[in-house]
Amino acid sequence: MRPVRKAVFPVAGLGTRFLPATKAMPKEMLPVVDKPLIQYAVEEAVAAGITDLIFVTGRNKRAIEDHFDSAPELENELARKNKDMLLALVQDILPSNVSCIYIRQSAPLGLGHAVLTAAPVVGDEPFAVLLADDLIDADRPVMGQLIDAALTHQGSILGVQEVPRSETDRYGIVATEPVGPRTDRVRLIVEKPKPDVAPSTLAVVGRYVLDARIFAHLRQTQAGAGGEIQLTDGIASLMKEQPVFAHRYEGIRYDCGNKEGMFRATVALGGKYHNLLP
Ligand code: UTP
Repeated sequence: MRPVRKAVFPVAGLGTRFLPATKAMPKEMLPVVDKPLIQYAVEEAVAAGITDLIFVTGRNKRAIEDHFDSAPELENELARKNKDMLLALVQDILPSNVSCIYIRQSAPLGLGHAVLTAAPVVGDEPFAVLLADDLIDADRPVMGQLIDAALTHQGSILGVQEVPRSETDRYGIVATEPVGPRTDRVRLIVEKPKPDVAPSTLAVVGRYVLDARIFAHLRQTQAGAGGEIQLTDGIASLMKEQPVFAHRYEGIRYDCGNKEGMFRATVALGGKYHNLLP
C-alpha cells in the first residue's frame, strides 16, 4: 500500500443542529474552548504525516479558508504589540510543508457525494477522511492509529467504536470478524439501522483510510438513507471488490455534531488541557 499523504475534510454540510450559530458560520468553525473543530481534525491528520489537506466546502465556508491562511493585518498588529506567543499561535497553525486545497461541493447531496467531489485531487492514492465534528481526544492521534492498521492489513480501514443499541440509527454499523489486535474484517455495513435490526453495535465514526477504488463505487452509488449519497453504501460496494477492515481506535470521542457532545467536549477538554475547572 502506498503512503497516505492526502486527507479529505468534508465540510459542506449545513450544520442545521447548531442553528442559529451556523446560519452564517460553518459548523466546523465552532470552537471547543479556544480552537475550532476543524483545527483539531487538521492537527490530528498532520500528526499522522498527512501533507495535503483537501477541504470539500460549500456555501458559507469562507471562514475555513481564512482560518488556514495567513492574516497579515492581525500578525503585524500582534508583532507591533510584542504579543509573541499569540503571534506564534496564529502563524503556526500549519507546518510549512502542508498545503490546503479547497473544492466546492455543488450541493450537500451527502457524505459519499462530498468524498467523491475530492476524486480529481486525490487521484489513485489511498487517502484519509476526517469528519471534524467527531473530536477524538487520544494519547496517540487516531488517524495515525488507523494509517498503521491500514499498512498492516493492506486495505481500507474504518474507525469504529461500540455504541448503545438504542443509538444504532445514528451511525453506519458493521458486522465483523477479528483478524488482529483491535482490528476486524468487515463482513457487512449498513447505514443507520434501527436498533432491532442492527447487525451489531459496532459503529463507524468519522475517521477512514480508503483505497482510491472507492471513487468508482461512489460514482455508481444511488441516494440511500435520508435521500443522501452515503459513504457507507459506497464502502459496502467496495467490499465486493476488496477487503475492508474496522479498527477499534484508542481514544475518547465527542460527537460535536450535536449540542450535548459539544458541551461534553468543552467541559472535558477545558478541564484537562486548560485548567478551567475548579
Ligand atoms: P452531518 O450529517 O453531520 O451533516 O455530516 P450536517 O449537515 O453538517 O449537520 P446537520 O445534521 O444538518 O446538523 C457529517 C459531515 O459530513 C459533511 C458535514 O460537513 C459533516 O462534516 N457533509 C455532509 C458534507 O460535506 N456534504 C454533505 O453533503 C453532507
